[in-house]
Amino acid sequence: MTTGSMLSGSQGCLVGFSKPTVFTGASAMFLLVYLALWKYHDSTNPLLASASSLPGDESRPLPGAHSPHDFLERIMSCDPDEPKKENVLLQKNESMPIIYFVTPTYARSVQMAELTRLGQTLSSVPALHWILVEDASKCNPIVGQLLRRLGIPFTHLASEMPAAYKKLKIPPRGVSNRRAALKWIRRNVKQGVLYFGDDDNSYDLRLFEEIRDTRNISMFPVGLIGDYAVSAPVVHDGKVVGFYDSWPAGRRFAVDMAGFAVNIKLLHQFPNATFIYEAGFEEDSFLQEIVTDADFIEAKAANCTEILVWHTRTVQVPAAILQPPTQTLTETSISALLRRLDDMQLATISSKGKPSSVHYLTNV
Ligand code: UGA
Ligand code: MN
Repeated sequence: MTTGSMLSGSQGCLVGFSKPTVFTGASAMFLLVYLALWKYHDSTNPLLASASSLPGDESRPLPGAHSPHDFLERIMSCDPDEPKKENVLLQKNESMPIIYFVTPTYARSVQMAELTRLGQTLSSVPALHWILVEDASKCNPIVGQLLRRLGIPFTHLASEMPAAYKKLKIPPRGVSNRRAALKWIRRNVKQGVLYFGDDDNSYDLRLFEEIRDTRNISMFPVGLIGDYAVSAPVVHDGKVVGFYDSWPAGRRFAVDMAGFAVNIKLLHQFPNATFIYEAGFEEDSFLQEIVTDADFIEAKAANCTEILVWHTRTVQVPAAILQPPTQTLTETSISALLRRLDDMQLATISSKGKPSSVHYLTNV
């Protein structure tokens, strides 16, 4: 968020401790100026501006007419320590296949809550590398801080949805980011298991041990999908013979993004396999490229009878637009708290926002 956008907006109420104070407006103005300067500091901090293009990245201008197969996205890599971490990871886990867990994510008020919850689930999983790809032109430093705090191996990338697709009624969500992750894996990883885990789903820890030995492609049910409350492969004699999914839509593989895992050798065998920019058909487009024989599909989760992942959805809460309290603020925690809200996109601080006030318990 830029300083400009912080200073525009409309009205809100911050509940806290209350103390009647004379309104001068000066303290509110002080806070706004402070926030603006702080933002400026952020944009000039070399640590926070460490994003750089990966060598060999393709990027083309948007053509007038787009096709869902077009490759349009740019990739930004945001972690200068990446090569070092990769070596440590490979030394530590030589015997256990590494799970590359790919998460597309985008800025909204619930994003940090989602990523905190997901990150803490992932920190319980051994030999896992989290590839978190923001749908943005550059990485958010707050997201980077969370990744470093978690202490798990990670790669932090950004790859924004091309403008042409943003205009669609149903944009293809998370496609640019997943495609960027595929490129990164093809360049940097020879072996392991790939799984696409959205930031808002719920994952049973047993899922990771189920998918870890995926030889080619494994599939399993996803709870809370569509009218059947599940999207699941149907198994007969140990083989996947069809799909139980309320939205077949002419798809050969009627599965959700969270319902399959792939051995990374297949990405190298099929170097062009990727996701098309077409909402609802991403999974099928990718799977049709890499699954040449349905007999290769390995049924997981007790022959596809267990639910180990749920397609949960979080209510989207619009970010509040807040005017800082007009009372004396300089020596209280409010300034730092409001900055934090702004950073995490829970609120925008603006002189035109909803007025807010502190209910002081005692004189300060
Ligand atoms: C469902 C599937 O579970 C997705 O895997 C699939 O990409 C999507 O439908 C689709 O076909 O469009 P759904 O729960 O409806 O997903 O969508 P979201 O959870 O809103 O988005 C999927 C992922 O993409 C999330 O990780 C989200 O953070 C990310 N996303 C969403 C972006 O990166 N950019 C966006 O603009 C929206
Ligand atoms: Mn979702």
